[in-house]
Amino acid sequence: MSKSVIKPGRVAVITGAAKGIGAAAARRFAREGMRLSLFDRDREALESLARTLRAECCIVSGDVTSEQDLLRLRDTTLTAFGEISLLMNNAGIKQGGGPWDNPSDWRIQLETNLLSVVNMQHLFVPVMLDSNNNAAIVNLGSKEGITTPPGNAAYSVAKAGMRVLTEQLAHDLRMRAGGRVTAHLLVPGYTWTDMNFPGMQENKDQKPDEAWTADQVIAYFIGRYERGDFYIICPDNAVTPEMDARRIAWSYHDILDNRPALSRWHPDWKNAFNEWMKK
Ligand SMILES: NC(=O)c1ccc[n+]([C@@H]2O[C@H](COP(=O)([O-])OP(=O)(O)OC[C@H]3O[C@@H](n4cnc5c(N)ncnc54)[C@H](O)[C@@H]3O)[C@@H](O)[C@H]2O)c1
Repeated sequence: MSKSVIKPGRVAVITGAAKGIGAAAARRFAREGMRLSLFDRDREALESLARTLRAECCIVSGDVTSEQDLLRLRDTTLTAFGEISLLMNNAGIKQGGGPWDNPSDWRIQLETNLLSVVNMQHLFVPVMLDSNNNAAIVNLGSKEGITTPPGNAAYSVAKAGMRVLTEQLAHDLRMRAGGRVTAHLLVPGYTWTDMNFPGMQENKDQKPDEAWTADQVIAYFIGRYERGDFYIICPDNAVTPEMDARRIAWSYHDILDNRPALSRWHPDWKNAFNEWMKK
């Protein structure tokens, strides 16, 4: 019997649900007959999305960096629906932060993209474990948290932390709940959302060919989640799963082969990397 929680009547909680990948998840889960608890700091966008969904839906506006707001999200959801089947920790920002940039910029990035998820897990996982039902936690990672390209150290650190946090969660849930409650790391590729294209709603004809839509990310997620996969690394229209695999292997070989850090972007290693990708 499938352990999938994406089923009519089950309850999905999505943070950052007002736009982008979170909104695509809300639309798709609504079509699957799930009941929804949607959280975002953009109340207006959340309300306008909720009006388009044919689903039992409660909306909670707040900030993922506020423990009180997250507690309110949990309690409102339990009062409305009595259970939590699928928790999608999706809210995120992409704000610059170089290795010696202002620590206050770092703090905002880490609190939003990483520490909020520690708080969410602290508040929600015990409830999911206490129920007798199957349940799943989906955390949004990034390829920037796996191959960690230069350019936005704070985002890469937050997403690398998210990967490790979710791996640890998956292990501890396996030992504790024997597969009844599972964790999954969803890693979108290049996706056409506000994060990459601020104000994109008004420019629907401007999607670059390389990018996937948020709906494609969610369709891919569901297929891989239902197969029971932990690492769900999305391709896009420019990057295939084989290219991702070679890039990830190159990164790990920096350690194994004692190469300079981030050798993929080191001028002396450019040709070797290009040859590796051609193999
Ligand atoms: N778009 C991509 O190419 C891409 C690639 C890899 C990973 N991701 C990850 O996917 C997730 C979703 O990204 P997206 O592209 O849909 O972004 P988006 O900017 O389109 O949507 C993010 C949503 O999160 C909400 N949000 C941001 N900070 C919040 C806070 N402090 N409290 C409450 N809500 C908050 C925003 O209001 C918005 O509705 C993020 O975690 C992001 O890092 C995106």
